[in-house]
Amino acid sequence: MLPFASCLRGSLLLWALLLLLLGAASPQESEEPDSYTECTDGYEWDPDSQHCRDVNECLTIPEACKGEMKCINHYGGYLCLPRSAAVINDLHGEGPPPPVPPAEHPSSCPPGYEPDEQESCVDVDECTQALHDCRPSQDCHNLPGSYQCTCPDGYRKIGPECVDIDECRYRYCQHRCVNLPGSFRCQCEPGFQLGPNNRSCVDVNECEMGAPCEQRCFNSYGTFLCRCHQGYELHRDGFSCSDTDECSYSSYLCQYRCVNEPGRFSCHCPQGYQLMATRLCQDIDECESGGHQCSEAQTCVNFHGGYRCVDTNRCVEPYIQVSDNRCLCPASNPLCREQPSSIVYRYMSITSERSVPADVFQIQATSVYPGAYNAFQIRAGNSQGDFYIRQINNVSAMLVLARPVTGPREYVLDLEMVTMNSLMSYRASSVLRLTVFVGAYTF
Ligand SMILES: *[C@@H]1O[C@H](CO)[C@@H](O)[C@H](O)[C@H]1NC(C)=O
Ligand SMILES: *[C@@H]1O[C@H](CO)[C@@H](O)[C@H](O)[C@H]1NC(C)=O
Repeated sequence: MLPFASCLRGSLLLWALLLLLLGAASPQESEEPDSYTECTDGYEWDPDSQHCRDVNECLTIPEACKGEMKCINHYGGYLCLPRSAAVINDLHGEGPPPPVPPAEHPSSCPPGYEPDEQESCVDVDECTQALHDCRPSQDCHNLPGSYQCTCPDGYRKIGPECVDIDECRYRYCQHRCVNLPGSFRCQCEPGFQLGPNNRSCVDVNECEMGAPCEQRCFNSYGTFLCRCHQGYELHRDGFSCSDTDECSYSSYLCQYRCVNEPGRFSCHCPQGYQLMATRLCQDIDECESGGHQCSEAQTCVNFHGGYRCVDTNRCVEPYIQVSDNRCLCPASNPLCREQPSSIVYRYMSITSERSVPADVFQIQATSVYPGAYNAFQIRAGNSQGDFYIRQINNVSAMLVLARPVTGPREYVLDLEMVTMNSLMSYRASSVLRLTVFVGAYTF
């Protein structure tokens, strides 16, 4: 109706002239396409009279005419005329109504429409009623009065058929592309996952997603690495960690005993020794540390791996004690005539398996007589010849270990110094009673 009205407005004067000439002329035939309603534009169906009735647009359309124009209703339309214009023909007259355009006959529905029960023309859905000639590969779309054959998304028409588009040819995907009927899917290499755009691939942080590393996990581009704490080594499976047996690597890790522990190792020392600098064993000097149980009448003697309590008074008849470690045989006593005039007690400790020959103890004459000559020898305790004496000069000699010995073992050697003066036909003998402890170990 509105296009009709606006069209009218464009040629108002022409209309007015026509009306004046034609009088109560019947409405023109509409040039608009059939609207397939019961009544033509400008009329409405009156169920009472069973006729089409003119619509008074001047009342139903707000501001049908603008400004100084006045609205004149007319059969099948309306007019806007200047207020000054005189209307000769009374358009609202009481005269008989003009002939009403007849309702469209059902058989006159245009192609693609069909009449329904109310004899209105309604669209035919060619797609559901198999009235189309779309190919099976095509989609049928119903349109008012017709239909359309289209290709589904992801297909394109080649000749009469719809053919899947191989989107993978266009390198849409960063890693891998899988063409699917009508679409495609991007896939990523292991260790990556699709990004938010479903095309690019982003690294997966496997460490945060439960990577099966037993101890430490390091994410890297496209993969991850398992590592172990210090003291553990990665198992062949690449995930689990097993304790490293450091002790099996080298026998030099510990001087005495290596004990493997989870993730580490420790060195241990035998009794009587203490650990020093994590791997070495050092003899504990029980005599110095007070860890001994020697009595007042005893002297504490330390040796490798232990100690000994010896009686401070070691002198046996006919010897008498003259100091803590010295016994004297008085010349006045006849029993002393064939005996060394003095016995001095000394103690020393050596380790096992020393390389030989090894100087172990130096003997020194304490008093020197002019013209005298001192000779040194091992008088007792060397039955197996493990030691010998190397004389250095008149007043000193060296006790030498001749054979490698293994402890624990103990020697008591009587080292005799014979002093001779041929001019004065003087001969004297004194003994150094040396106890040699051999420790059980090489340290
Ligand atoms: C990516 O794919 C998912 C699942 O198919 C979908 O929900 C999402 O909308 C897609 N995102 C984009 C950007 O296409
Ligand atoms: C060592 O003995 C020699 C004789 O064998 C003698 O001539 C020399 O003076 C002595 N030396 C000492 C320091 O007693």
